[in-house]
Amino acid sequence: ITEGEHQPKHEHINKTIRKDVDKLVDKYDIEDVITQCNASQNKTVSYCRCWKSKKFPLCDGSHNAWNKETGDNLGPLVITNKP
Ligand code: FES
Repeated sequence: ITEGEHQPKHEHINKTIRKDVDKLVDKYDIEDVITQCNASQNKTVSYCRCWKSKKFPLCDGSHNAWNKETGDNLGPLVITNKP
């Protein structure tokens, strides 16, 4: 590494998702989230917090393989619309 080269101080948590943007933000209208909840069988929408989902920002269950492999305890944010 020569002076001026980018050398991250820490390992990146996000390895692959939309690396072309400076800050990865997802915005949702709460009414759309409620509509999504109501359309699902168990009235929930799960958002990924492990950064490994192929359906990011939605959880696709990839955290299970990560947890099994590493002993970590990651899981999604689950939003439920109770009737
Ligand atoms: Fe990332 Fe489920 S896939 S939390």
